[in-house]
Amino acid sequence: RPVTLVTLLGSLRSGSLHAAVARALPALAPEGVTVLALGSIAELPHYDADLQAVGFPPAVLAMADAIRAADGVVVVTPEYNYSVPGSLKNALDWLSRVTPQPFAGKPVAIQTGSPGMIGGAHAQYHLRQTMVFLDAHVLNRPEIMIGGMHDKIDAETGTITDRTTADLIGQQLAALAAMA
Ligand code: FNR
Repeated sequence: RPVTLVTLLGSLRSGSLHAAVARALPALAPEGVTVLALGSIAELPHYDADLQAVGFPPAVLAMADAIRAADGVVVVTPEYNYSVPGSLKNALDWLSRVTPQPFAGKPVAIQTGSPGMIGGAHAQYHLRQTMVFLDAHVLNRPEIMIGGMHDKIDAETGTITDRTTADLIGQQLAALAAMA
């Protein structure tokens, strides 16, 4: 059956290398797998239970609906100070309060990169920890940790120039689709 995956992007900047990766996913996905982008996390207010009491931001509810409707989620995010960017954590905190909680039982794959060698591994394991509390089913392998990212992604054209990286991402999307 057809599979739909949605991408959650952790970088806000216009020249983001992770945004380029996220944009490349539809072309790398196997036959029968559609990849759609979730809305931007940029405009979400800081999580505040008082705001929630008045009503969830419409962008949060729209994101939660899209995640629930999807077969799986691909989180594409940079590492900030050995964790995920605060803006991404904020989005997850908002989403975690929506009922039914959209990540419960949801297949999730994580993709991180870095100009350094480690490829965002620290952030990835922090995110896995958060996903335990959200009761998501995070794919184990293959892990996408793109070290030396600046040499493998052309942010100008938004293309993944490194064949090995592109192939591994395709394999991960296939594994997530199979899990879903
Ligand atoms: C970084 N960067 C970074 N890189 C890394 O490998 N480990 C880290 O802990 C951090 N920490 C960090 C904190 C902050 C506040 C910034 C702005 C950057 C570098 C980061 O990987 C690099 O800027 C990426 O290019 C960011 O991804 P996008 O925006 O290009 O998608």
